[in-house]
Amino acid sequence: MPISLDGMEIKNITVLGSGIMGHGIAQVYAMAGYNIVLRDIEQKFLDKAMEKIKWSLDKLVSKERISLEEESKILSRIKPIVDLKDAVHDSDLVIEAVPEIMDLKKKVYAELDKVAGDQVIFASNTSTLPISEIANTLSRPDKFIGIHFFNPPQLMKLVEIIPGQKTSDDILNLIINLVKSVNKTPVICRKDVPGFIVNRLFIPLVHEACYVMERQKIQQVEIDSAVKFNLGFPMGIFELADYTGMDVIHKATIEMHLRDKKVILPHPKIEQLFNEKKLGQKSGEGFYKYSDDKYERISLSEELGKKCDPTQIIANILNNAAWLVTNKASDINEIEKAANLGLNLKKPLFETANEIGMQKIVNELKKLSEQYGAFYEPDPLLLSMC
Ligand SMILES: NC(=O)c1ccc[n+]([C@@H]2O[C@H](COP(=O)([O-])OP(=O)(O)OC[C@H]3O[C@@H](n4cnc5c(N)ncnc54)[C@H](O)[C@@H]3O)[C@@H](O)[C@H]2O)c1
Repeated sequence: MPISLDGMEIKNITVLGSGIMGHGIAQVYAMAGYNIVLRDIEQKFLDKAMEKIKWSLDKLVSKERISLEEESKILSRIKPIVDLKDAVHDSDLVIEAVPEIMDLKKKVYAELDKVAGDQVIFASNTSTLPISEIANTLSRPDKFIGIHFFNPPQLMKLVEIIPGQKTSDDILNLIINLVKSVNKTPVICRKDVPGFIVNRLFIPLVHEACYVMERQKIQQVEIDSAVKFNLGFPMGIFELADYTGMDVIHKATIEMHLRDKKVILPHPKIEQLFNEKKLGQKSGEGFYKYSDDKYERISLSEELGKKCDPTQIIANILNNAAWLVTNKASDINEIEKAANLGLNLKKPLFETANEIGMQKIVNELKKLSEQYGAFYEPDPLLLSMC
């Protein structure tokens, strides 16, 4: 259902980039009644995206979730267009989902800024790039915002919203309503910090799990079993890393570490797997080996979990969560919402931490910082909770 706020209306949305995320976002908004233009650089990409959307809608028809008539109405609301000027002609909002390469994004925004009317709002689906850096290249930094959908957008409820330094409050509120209008849950990352909320919790954790494996001389299935059965994770960290893809994790690591050395302590294993093209589930091997490229679960057990003390793991994710609060990027409720919907954590992080014992976690961080440096120093919030 199209939305409006204080005289601003969003009815027509242009989605730039029709890949994994773009086609899914287009489908979600077309299903809710918005008029969509899907734009890519070549017709063949758009044809493929429209095929994927049709396949997904056909599935909903076969499950009787929508009728054939609704399916054809939804499809008629999505116009695939290659020409950028035509694509933004009637647009109220552009959601950009082109590849995660800063130079490419800047080039796309420079072209877009010239052809889009002054009133058009721009929202980027970037996972890791600085919102304010892109905003500062635009004639309308007040009308630019981060809108981070999760994969697949058709199913994932969470959307992180990231205002840049100059984003106006009106635009922030409008975009919050836009996310709610498709039944998704917005979580606001109030500062444009590397990794926003979910990636700030998850990406460093994959590296930390590698350190635990190396330092405690234990197996990855033992760590994965411990986090699944003791920390409320839906699956193991290495399993989740394989599902996400080592290309995505490697790229996010570089971007986050470039901007903030405190957020992540890169372990060489990620780069090694990436260089060896062991990208995870999609390439048949990552941390684990898979029999084919279909989704496959790793066999984990409570018994295996007993071989790993997960304190260092929870300490890492908690320290990053606390950093977000201390630095006023978020608060505990919002972080728990993001961890629940973005990482599917079954139990709130701070509840797990209290069960393990905040003092024990802080002691672990102090011990690690004496041994391995300032990266591990406990955040003041955790100290105040002991
Ligand atoms: N894949 C994920 O799991 C995921 C999750 C959340 C956010 N993201 C973010 O979403 C964005 C897109 O990622 P993706 O995985 O969908 O990428 P993708 O490679 O699947 O799709 C990108 C599409 O953009 C098109 N493109 C390139 N230049 C363009 C231009 N100038 N104008 C229009 N289209 C252009 C490409 O042809 C391609 O079809 C990235 O910023 C990424 O970080 C990805």
